[in-house]
Amino acid sequence: MAVVHIIYHSVKGHTERLAEAIAEGVQATGGCSCRLIPVAEAREEHVRNCQGLLLGCPTYMGNVSAPMKKFIDEVISPVWMKGGIPGTVGSAFTSSGTIHGDKEFALLALLIPLFQLGMTLVSLPPMAIPENKDLGYSHGVGTSVLGRHPNLIPPEDLAVARALGKRVAETARRLHG
Ligand SMILES: Cc1cc2nc3c(=O)[nH]c(=O)nc-3n(C[C@H](O)[C@H](O)[C@H](O)COP(=O)(O)O)c2cc1C
Repeated sequence: MAVVHIIYHSVKGHTERLAEAIAEGVQATGGCSCRLIPVAEAREEHVRNCQGLLLGCPTYMGNVSAPMKKFIDEVISPVWMKGGIPGTVGSAFTSSGTIHGDKEFALLALLIPLFQLGMTLVSLPPMAIPENKDLGYSHGVGTSVLGRHPNLIPPEDLAVARALGKRVAETARRLHG
C-alpha cells in the first residue's frame, strides 16, 4: 500500500477543494491510501511516513502563504538537514484570486523545498494528460478564484487535480508499492 499525504493551507476553501480533488484521484488508484492534513497540524512524521507528498496553499503576493512558509522553515527544513526523503513522490497546487495571479511562482516556491528533500517530482505534460490540455500547468495544479464560492471551482480544474493525484499515486505505487 502506498500512502500519499496532502498538506495544505486554505482560508476560504478553494485550495482545500483542490486538495480534496487530488485525494479523489489518489483514492481512485488501487493500492493507495490518502490523508489530507491541514498545515497547522502537519508534523515531521507526516513528511516522513508516506510515499507521496503534495503541498498546496493560496498564492499570496506571488508566493506561498505565511503559514505554509512557516511549515517549510520549521518542519521541512529539519528533514532536509537530516538527509531529506529521497525518492518520495511529490507535486504542488495553489489557487489565486485572479486568472494568472502569479500562481506559477507560488507553485515553484512550493516545489523547490521538495526538490531539496531529494523527492521525485511528477509533472502533468499537457500533451500527454488529456485533462490538462487547456489549463496547461506542467508543474502542478492551479485554480483561479475570480470571486467564486469554492463549490464553484470549474470542473475542468478539478479534473486536472484528480489527474495529478492519480499520477502521484501511480508513480508512488510503482516505486514503493
Ligand atoms: C495576503 C494575500 C495576498 C494575495 N496575493 C494574491 C496574488 O498575488 N495574486 C492573486 O491572484 N491573488 C492573491 N490573493 C488572493 C488569494 O490567492 C485567494 O484569496 C486564495 O486563492 C483563496 O484561497 P483559499 O480559498 O484556499 O483561502 C491574495 C490574498 C491575500 C489574503
